Amino acid sequence: MNDKRVIRVYALSDVHVDYAENLDWLRAIDGTAHKNDVLLLAGDISHKMERLKITFEIVAQKFSSVFYVPGNHDLWVHPEEQSNSISKFEKVCSLCERLGIKTQPKRFSGHKQSLWVVPLYSWYVRPEEGEDSLFMQKKEEDSGLERWADSHYTQWGPLRKGERVADFFHKKNEVYLHQNYDAPVVTLSHFLPRKELILSNGKKGDPLEQSFRDANPGFNFSRVAGCKGLDKQIRKIAASVHVYGHQHRNRDRVIDGVRYVAQCLGYPHERQSGQIVGLERGPKLLWHSEGGFVEGAIF
Ligand SMILES: [Fe+2]
Ligand SMILES: [Fe+2]
Repeated sequence: MNDKRVIRVYALSDVHVDYAENLDWLRAIDGTAHKNDVLLLAGDISHKMERLKITFEIVAQKFSSVFYVPGNHDLWVHPEEQSNSISKFEKVCSLCERLGIKTQPKRFSGHKQSLWVVPLYSWYVRPEEGEDSLFMQKKEEDSGLERWADSHYTQWGPLRKGERVADFFHKKNEVYLHQNYDAPVVTLSHFLPRKELILSNGKKGDPLEQSFRDANPGFNFSRVAGCKGLDKQIRKIAASVHVYGHQHRNRDRVIDGVRYVAQCLGYPHERQSGQIVGLERGPKLLWHSEGGFVEGAIF
């Protein structure tokens, strides 16, 4: 018999519900199996507020607790809206508060094991903004990022002069860096904290990325991937596992003692072409309160 007191923690990101089949995928998650469980939703739901709301309502009905951090798509504003991405961030946070979606640390205790979940706000650092960018050289790239939608749909007017977007978000996490976490910690962010995660694991015959790496030669993802400062925060907190999204490449990899997990739903065509794998069982199980962390496939 299923012990109702067991708590399980799952990871998922980049659900992009503007695609109807992604919304169907979310709706198809078992509505009774997760009544004690926790879902970590690591950003990129939709730029539309009503779709964010629908998504939060769906997952909040299925899971006992849902944590969320905004992704870049969630903070898009149309140039004609006369708004900006800081206001959009505040609106999204208010929506989370109204719907009981968690954006602050919380401890979970089972019979045998306990766990802290700590959400971390983040953004990427472009190479021209500083050395903490995750930038790597790529030939024939479009360095102007004209085709990168954030260049057109994010507006940061209210930031102080010289303040980087990444710093604006990372400062919000500082209050969590010096807390006493008396159990293992899982952190989550939308953006990547390490360069290594951008690349395939380098193993000969790795089926995942060898054939896809240059599918878009003009685009250098590392310009907009994440920030090294985020990894400093993860390590200050001494997280055991960090969940992230954004790249639409699923990972489960240990680097310098921290396990990094990406479980992106991504776009339908990315799943159909095999660029995104490992979603057969839905969100990824990370931890349960009887046995602790669950091993995952390494790729
Ligand atoms: Fe995404
Ligand atoms: Fe993203």
